[in-house]
Amino acid sequence: MATTDTGTVIIVGAGQAAGQTAISLRQKGYAGPVMLIGDEEYLPYQRPPLSKAFLAGSIEAERLHIKPQHFWAEHGIETRLGVRVTAIDRAARTVTLHDGTTLSYAKLVLATGSRVRELPIPGHELEGVHYLRTIADVQGIQPGFRAGQRLTIVGGGYIGLEVAAVAVKQGLEVTVVETESRVMNRVVAPEVSEFFQALHRAAGVRLELGRRVRALEGTTRINAVACADGFSVPTDLCIIGIGIVPNVELAEAAGLPCANGIGVDEFCQTADADVLAVGDCTRHPNSLLGRHVRLESVHNAIEQGKTAAATLCGQPSAYAQVPWFWSDQYDIKLQISGLSEGYDEVVVRGEPADHSFAAFYLLQKRLLAVDAVNSPREFMLGKKLIAAGAELDSVALADPDQDFKTLATAALAAAG
Ligand code: APR
Repeated sequence: MATTDTGTVIIVGAGQAAGQTAISLRQKGYAGPVMLIGDEEYLPYQRPPLSKAFLAGSIEAERLHIKPQHFWAEHGIETRLGVRVTAIDRAARTVTLHDGTTLSYAKLVLATGSRVRELPIPGHELEGVHYLRTIADVQGIQPGFRAGQRLTIVGGGYIGLEVAAVAVKQGLEVTVVETESRVMNRVVAPEVSEFFQALHRAAGVRLELGRRVRALEGTTRINAVACADGFSVPTDLCIIGIGIVPNVELAEAAGLPCANGIGVDEFCQTADADVLAVGDCTRHPNSLLGRHVRLESVHNAIEQGKTAAATLCGQPSAYAQVPWFWSDQYDIKLQISGLSEGYDEVVVRGEPADHSFAAFYLLQKRLLAVDAVNSPREFMLGKKLIAAGAELDSVALADPDQDFKTLATAALAAAG
């Protein structure tokens, strides 16, 4: 294999996108020094199980690692953990660490990820109030996460609902407070929200929709969540999951253009030829979607990691894929292909009551996205149809007597 060495590559961050960049650099023959610098104490790990199996206590922290501990040293990847990069000097091509040390780079990859959106209301500093984004966050939650405890979750999105499913199964008394009138409103259509609402209610979760949290109450420890309309939920434990914000401050301070994410092109290149960026923290063009996006997904972290490594190895390859996401709640797997924003029609195929159905989002017949509930075939074919810009007939799509694979094959052929 041909090797490349253009000097030291420093990767800021040690999450999934950072780890993938380093792995792909070695896979593609990068022979120069590679260093990962992360402010968490952990080697690159997967976050999705944090709100599922890891919270439930059914897997150990080591199982979250994307590679075993020995992998990094064996591949000559230096890992500096618990270390924060505080500044970038692009002219000098150096980064400064929290202890004042400066390190030189030939190429810099920003994989700074995202952080939880905080809820700056009275009582947010009380004991028993948590966010969930890191291994340390879950370890902070676990001691109070016990049967009989009253848990209030603020936010009915992915995190809130996954936590609710685990908690109610473990015997906690669970209430979800959501400002919007339905759960997961950011990502799914009302039909899909209704299905998940019914699922959670049947499992014993109390959903308080359309309520805004005003304050968290208690003296040292939380004892209630107070809403603006006067409604109050007695609480032993509170977990807040109201979204994430991209970590762009380091890039911004270094003068790199940022707008809801660090601006990069389809090769993960920023405005500076020596600086790339990958993962949750980026805003990038997607030629399949015809617009710029910032994606919060494992798929995006992995693919941008591979793309940046290819760019650094002098084998540039444009990143353009259909985004996809998933969520596990109880025995339900929700898989989402594409981005539904801007749809003019939703077609539901299958019966929500059967716990297996899919919602197709169309814009002038063209498929934008599919939410597949326990329906892997619709998810997989949906991805292909979206990539092809295929059009679907909504009447045929809604007809259970029409075979989906046949419909999809015909639509793909028509799309050329
Ligand atoms: N009170 C109650 N609910 C709120 C408030 C508030 N003050 N502010 C926002 N919300 C609700 C939103 O309406 C939304 O339904 O919180 C929910 C947040 O849902 P998501 O945007 O899906 O964010 P979250 O669940 O925190 O997940 C963050 O983690 O699972 C990963 O990458 C995935 O993007 C996801 C991220």
